[in-house]
Amino acid sequence: MAIAPELLEPMPPAQIRAMCAADVPEVFAIERAAYSFPWSAGIFRDCLRVGYVCRVLTVGGQIAGYGVMSMGAGEMHVLNLCIAEAQRGRGLGRRMLEHLLAQGAAAGMTDAFLEVRPSNCAALALYRALGFEQIGMRRGYYQAVNGREDACVLKLTLRARRAES
Ligand SMILES: CC(C)(COP(=O)(O)OP(=O)(O)OC[C@H]1O[C@@H](n2cnc3c(N)ncnc32)[C@H](O)[C@@H]1OP(=O)(O)O)[C@@H](O)C(=O)NCCC(=O)NCCS
Repeated sequence: MAIAPELLEPMPPAQIRAMCAADVPEVFAIERAAYSFPWSAGIFRDCLRVGYVCRVLTVGGQIAGYGVMSMGAGEMHVLNLCIAEAQRGRGLGRRMLEHLLAQGAAAGMTDAFLEVRPSNCAALALYRALGFEQIGMRRGYYQAVNGREDACVLKLTLRARRAES
């Protein structure tokens, strides 16, 4: 039975800010819980060190998710996007991805790319909802429990997106 909206706890406002080194343990805890083959804490620190766009989304001051992307030669690459399991399904993943796309567009990027496992239905649905289209497949790209899994390569043209909005 669905809970009447007026009985649900109101969610504290979500905010997005730059990730800093002190956030890495909290971010890594979410990462480890979310993926079978998570990034290490060192990878997050490296992303910060090389100047990738690293953002955390907080709800009531607690980190509820994060996004990491690189930019260069007119292209932005979404490298990681994750929302803590308890906070999923509330529009936060969409909000973080919209934020990254807006950052990329503001920095003059024309295209956004990302890879996703074909088995990751939630992420694929989110990316398609925001207009990403599959442009290819990388064979055996990901580690998987039974060997390797392919990656779908998705692209969104930011210019077209801006013109539409
Ligand atoms: C993918 C992920 C970031 C989505 O975050 P989320 O906050 O739950 O997503 P949102 O609530 O913003 O949903 C936005 C849209 O995504 C799609 N979506 C999200 N979860 C879905 C699910 N479980 N099944 C189907 N579609 C889903 C829907 O289209 C949804 O739009 P709608 O609410 O209007 O139907 C989240 O599931 C996650 O962190 N997963 C683990 C890490 C991961 O796999 N990251 C992606 C790596 S490529």
